[in-house]
Amino acid sequence: MLAIVPETVGRPVGMVGLFGLNRSDRTPRFGYWVIREFRGRGLAVTAARALGRWAADKLGIETLVLDVEPANEASHRVAAKLGAGRVGEVTQGTVRLARYELAAGRLTRT
Ligand SMILES: CC(C)(COP(=O)(O)OP(=O)(O)OC[C@H]1O[C@@H](n2cnc3c(N)ncnc32)[C@H](O)[C@@H]1OP(=O)(O)O)[C@@H](O)C(=O)NCCC(=O)NCCS
Repeated sequence: MLAIVPETVGRPVGMVGLFGLNRSDRTPRFGYWVIREFRGRGLAVTAARALGRWAADKLGIETLVLDVEPANEASHRVAAKLGAGRVGEVTQGTVRLARYELAAGRLTRT
């Protein structure tokens, strides 16, 4: 889990992280969260892209998985802006989540 600290703000305003990474599972999930007053500035997309590049470059991860609730329009938008592809659905408890896959090695640095 990494904090999102914009240079202009100088304090954490959100987080981005990898989940479920271990030696046998090389396809971790990732997630992000930004506090309300700092949303809509591209922070989630920028942070997720940096995380994905780091995972590809430093850990050799090829694919990251993202699960999104159907009504979470902002997160679906973040997934689209990252270039993640929708690959199906998964069930978590009683909730059906849309599953995306992101080709980490193909992420650009900008
Ligand atoms: C999802 C979340 C991380 C997005 O953070 P963010 O920094 O605002 O994201 P970005 O600014 O990088 O991009 C957000 C995009 O979603 C769009 N968006 C925001 N709210 C939206 C809404 N209610 N409906 C549709 N699109 C929406 C923005 O317009 C933007 O797209 P654009 O650049 O094309 O205009 C933030 O909303 C959040 O923390 N939500 C609660 C936690 C959460 O849901 N995490 C994801 C779990 S899968």
